[in-house]
Amino acid sequence: MGMFGFFRNAIPLLRCPRDRAGLHILHEDDASAELIFHARLGCVSCGAVFTIREGILDLLNHQPDLASIQQAEINARDAGAPLYDQQMAERGHREIPSTLAALPPLEGTRVIEYGCGTGRLTGSFLKADLVVACDFSRASLEILAAKHAKARNLAAVLADATTLYTAPEAFDCAIATQLIEHLTLPLRRRLFGHVRETLRPGGIFLSTCYYYDLRTRLRRLPREGYHRNGIFYHRFSVAEILAEMQPFFEIEHDRLIDITIPGERKLGLQALFSANLSRVAEHIPLVRQFANLILVSARKPVEPTPPNIPAPATALASDL
Ligand SMILES: C[S@@+](CC[C@H](N)C(=O)[O-])C[C@H]1O[C@@H](n2cnc3c(N)ncnc32)[C@H](O)[C@@H]1O
Ligand SMILES: [Zn+2]
Repeated sequence: MGMFGFFRNAIPLLRCPRDRAGLHILHEDDASAELIFHARLGCVSCGAVFTIREGILDLLNHQPDLASIQQAEINARDAGAPLYDQQMAERGHREIPSTLAALPPLEGTRVIEYGCGTGRLTGSFLKADLVVACDFSRASLEILAAKHAKARNLAAVLADATTLYTAPEAFDCAIATQLIEHLTLPLRRRLFGHVRETLRPGGIFLSTCYYYDLRTRLRRLPREGYHRNGIFYHRFSVAEILAEMQPFFEIEHDRLIDITIPGERKLGLQALFSANLSRVAEHIPLVRQFANLILVSARKPVEPTPPNIPAPATALASDL
């Protein structure tokens, strides 16, 4: 197996977390290779130093101190990373095909993924020219690196997504699957602001988040709280997530996905069968209220928006 390396072409797209200035390479093992295994980068303005170690760039060491909710999540994600993929395998059959189906063609594009975790979806984005994948759990990124050791266009960044600065209008597509339910409202807004800034006009932001589904509502389970491992979550209504995103993006479409039909678990269906059932259920109004996730595809407005002036009546007359 080859060694995982950091895609050099991503460096001009990244910014210093302290002052948003550019980064340059101070020292590296092999300045000719397109992948970087070990290096030190510096901010061109404040001189902060960042390291690339085993192909993973660490920006976290110069990001502002994290709130205790975030610090608790890093600890839980680091501890849980080795099991995460295994536990999510069955869910993956249900949610990943529906999520990928909502993506535009990625050939020739630049993609940024926030909260990539162990890279469950990241491999599907590598047909793009360049992929920046960020997460604040080093253990998760190390699993991503082991899985994608052959990747030649992937830049893994250890960073808090809500204070990760990247170049304006640099990406065609931004993706965040099951990240935003773990952020409080101010942090969600901060993330949306960065995503909007770093997308090119017309660029797509695809995200999934927990749905406050009918089962949870009937059982009167809380819509916000902490998982047993200490991770904060918030379950959204569709109207709520759309209202939060609308100030930043134009909503393309929303969809309820990853549906567990009542009684289904007791039947012990095979994962693939249950996944197909879930995808059929996406089209059935009441049944889809048992969805685990909301998928939202949004677009950065193309600015300036062309004025919407109706044609003058005289022009219409001359058309006759
Ligand atoms: C539920 S996992 C989803 C991982 C991956 N997107 C997937 O679908 O498998 C949430 C991930 O978001 C990361 N995360 C949560 N808050 C973050 C933040 N503020 N900055 C960076 N990563 C964050 C966690 O470490 C975790 O890997
Ligand atoms: Zn700086």
